[in-house]
Amino acid sequence: MTGTDLFGPAKLGAFDLQNRVAMAPMTRHRALDGGWTPADYAPDYYGARSSAGLIITEATQCSAGAAGYPRTPGLWCDRHLDVWTKVVAAIQAGGAKAVLQVWHCGRISHPDNLPTGHDVIGPSPVAADAFNISDKQGGVQVQMPVPMEMSEAAIEQVIAEYAQCARYAKAAGFDGLEIHAANGYLLEQFASSNTNLRTDAWGGSVENRLRLQDRVIAVVAEVFGHDRVGIRFSPFGTFNDIHDDDPLGIYIAKLKHAERSGVGYVHVIRPSVSGNVDSDAPMPKADVVAIAREYFSGLLIAAGQFDRAESEAELAAGKCDIIAFGRPFLANPDLVERLKSGAPLKQPRTELIYAGGREGYVDDIAAV
Ligand SMILES: Cc1cc2nc3c(=O)[nH]c(=O)nc-3n(C[C@H](O)[C@H](O)[C@H](O)COP(=O)(O)O)c2cc1C
Repeated sequence: MTGTDLFGPAKLGAFDLQNRVAMAPMTRHRALDGGWTPADYAPDYYGARSSAGLIITEATQCSAGAAGYPRTPGLWCDRHLDVWTKVVAAIQAGGAKAVLQVWHCGRISHPDNLPTGHDVIGPSPVAADAFNISDKQGGVQVQMPVPMEMSEAAIEQVIAEYAQCARYAKAAGFDGLEIHAANGYLLEQFASSNTNLRTDAWGGSVENRLRLQDRVIAVVAEVFGHDRVGIRFSPFGTFNDIHDDDPLGIYIAKLKHAERSGVGYVHVIRPSVSGNVDSDAPMPKADVVAIAREYFSGLLIAAGQFDRAESEAELAAGKCDIIAFGRPFLANPDLVERLKSGAPLKQPRTELIYAGGREGYVDDIAAV
């Protein structure tokens, strides 16, 4: 029988894990700009962290039109497949399981960050009150434009792009696929009342607003099997100017839809973290991890400001099954060993977190 030890092996659904530590998905902006190909040293970065039980990759575009930022990778062609295959091999060589996080940025994009011929799109023409970065303009902050409202055909095309990405991910050898439905990107734009003003079958009722989530789950599960598909939510989060009139209600609805779809896991970010930083918003009373347990019967991954003591307590209490660590993995590829031994954690060089190139990414691996 599988225990609840953070460091012990665990057979959880379709995932046979060497421990219950997951590396949370983290965008690092190292892809080769213009080509959206992961850097050829990405396998070193991921491989160095492969003592984790599960590694969830940085968010990865399902298509050229899904891009939002400079230097974020995609997986929609053989060139991408080649590097991702090496990343997967490096992760699995260390004993970890590899999951691709797939995203479409929707309105959180800018023409400078999209290949020629692609528009910034979203469920409705509502611009995000948030900034993006443009490499083309020398790394300055740029206001995000009003997105073009997606036609029915455009929605169907995006669904097909998710399916194609899943096929590439399968070909690369990934053990699973995580749908990024958190942090204000396309799926959350469809789900949320401030960004989805549609009056057709994709807007209005909660059922309609979650139709895209349902459809994307269905097409990627056809490729991977439901038990190898996960979905990530950021309940009560407002990162990327996302809001819902009923944040608890929409969260519970997402969980019910996930349950009904039969996905293998739900990955919940606690509201104490907003995107990539600690939140300074007032905290909701709701315990989002407990709510996920109540409405979703599959595997549960919890993320957001966990340390060893709290991880062990949550696991022992049966509140979740896997703990995902984000920022602690940035400068500590050997995070599992450090948590185990109590060795101090190194701090990342913050100015290099999103910088391109090897520095602050793979240059310190040997120094571990
Ligand atoms: C540098 C950085 C990049 C991130 N990129 C992503 C991403 O690509 N996809 C995603 O779902 N979350 C992303 N996040 C959020 C993390 O996955 C995680 O939820 C958050 O950092 C909270 O966990 P922590 O407190 O252990 O860092 C990012 C966070 C950081 C710090």
